[in-house]
Amino acid sequence: MKIKFQTPTGMHDILPDEQGYFRKIYNVCENAANFYQFKKIDTPILEETELFSKGTGMGSDIVQKQMYSLKTKGGDFLTLRPEFTPGIVRAYIKYGMRNLPQPVKLYSIGPVFRYERPQEDRYRQFHQFNLEILGEANPVIDAQIIQIFYNILEELKFKKLIVEINSIGDGICRPRYRKILINYLKKRETDLCADCRQRLGKNPLRVLDCKEEKCWKIIKQAPQAINYLCNECREHFKEVLEFLDEIELPYNLNPYLVRGLDYYTKTVFEIFEEHGIAQEEKKRNALLAGGRYDNLVKKLGGLPTPACGGAIGIERIVNLIKTKEVKVSSLASTAQTKIFLAQLGDLAKRKSLNLLESFRKKKINIAESFSRDSLKSQLAQADKIGVKYTLILGQKEVLENTIIIRDMKTGQQETKKMKEIVGIMKKKVEKIKT
Ligand code: HAM
Repeated sequence: MKIKFQTPTGMHDILPDEQGYFRKIYNVCENAANFYQFKKIDTPILEETELFSKGTGMGSDIVQKQMYSLKTKGGDFLTLRPEFTPGIVRAYIKYGMRNLPQPVKLYSIGPVFRYERPQEDRYRQFHQFNLEILGEANPVIDAQIIQIFYNILEELKFKKLIVEINSIGDGICRPRYRKILINYLKKRETDLCADCRQRLGKNPLRVLDCKEEKCWKIIKQAPQAINYLCNECREHFKEVLEFLDEIELPYNLNPYLVRGLDYYTKTVFEIFEEHGIAQEEKKRNALLAGGRYDNLVKKLGGLPTPACGGAIGIERIVNLIKTKEVKVSSLASTAQTKIFLAQLGDLAKRKSLNLLESFRKKKINIAESFSRDSLKSQLAQADKIGVKYTLILGQKEVLENTIIIRDMKTGQQETKKMKEIVGIMKKKVEKIKT
């Protein structure tokens, strides 16, 4: 039978079996955010379209081609957020966060939407974990943002991580570099791919990001931004690298890294798995990316405020974890259910419903399979979940107000008074944890 309804192209369901990956990643990300004193912020999924055309920028592919925009019945032009940063900057301005002690550190997790050409690791709805530090110009912040993301990936058991980093200058030095680059590229325009010939007019720096072989030959000889930085940008970049050296975080200075969003100034970075990916063979997608954006707050109507941030693409992490066959449970201790409640007969089933609630009230995780009747299949289910204890409630136990505790490993069983069972199991579960 042909299935009538599919998910929209490039969008996917996160099935129950996959939830563990997302939960685990969110846990690691949120623990890191808390440790580094970030506060959580949720912004609307829909924002005014102009926030992104101004913020993400007219020169970006996101604004040019990838936004899901709509006109409301009331005539407002709204867009499903393609990224978090402009919404967070809007909130920073709106709530006068400038008056709080600076810097303001904010994190967000949630879905973002980009109308991209679907391909491996490229979705139209995906999730990001996003960090922003607003109100601080010191280069230590750039290094710290990179370090936090690096730590998160390490905690998720990623090995061989490489940080690619570059500086694309600011409003003072970039225009000069841009001119020099255009000059160089114009002379070779006919040898560039069709996309790059277009980029040349709109956003020439993006040519440096092209993966086409014919363009790559030209890019390799092109003038590089870091050779045209003004003193301030050069000094800033030098200090960022020094901080990274200090914490012994391996990085790869990639002079061709330019990033596709308009707001970046000075530092830009991306993190990949594996060392030394040559640009020519860089088919792989970044696990996360970010950079400094010292002009965005002003551009969106606030006072001049330096800022820096980045975002992890959660699906990319999930997909890689799956290929490594790292068991989610091995990534760290998630709250795993240690007890299973098995019941035999109608009377026991009815009693079990209440007993389950007593465990819930005491916040003790307990699994069950009330729809099964045979003890054998319930024990098999308990085995599959991997619990340490199964409670068995049969007709006889109900009549005697008792219940059996079965140790799943040894098979040993003991009978206890029903009214004491929650307290007994609480102690047993706590013992496992310590
Ligand atoms: P971005 O590079 O556009 O930056 O996205 C960050 C990450 O989101 C990427 O490195 C990638 O892991 C993931 N990602 C992007 N597009 C897709 C897609 N179509 N499917 C799956 N994953 C994707 C930003 O969004 C900036 N707002 C980051 C930032 C925050 N810069 C400063 N603050």
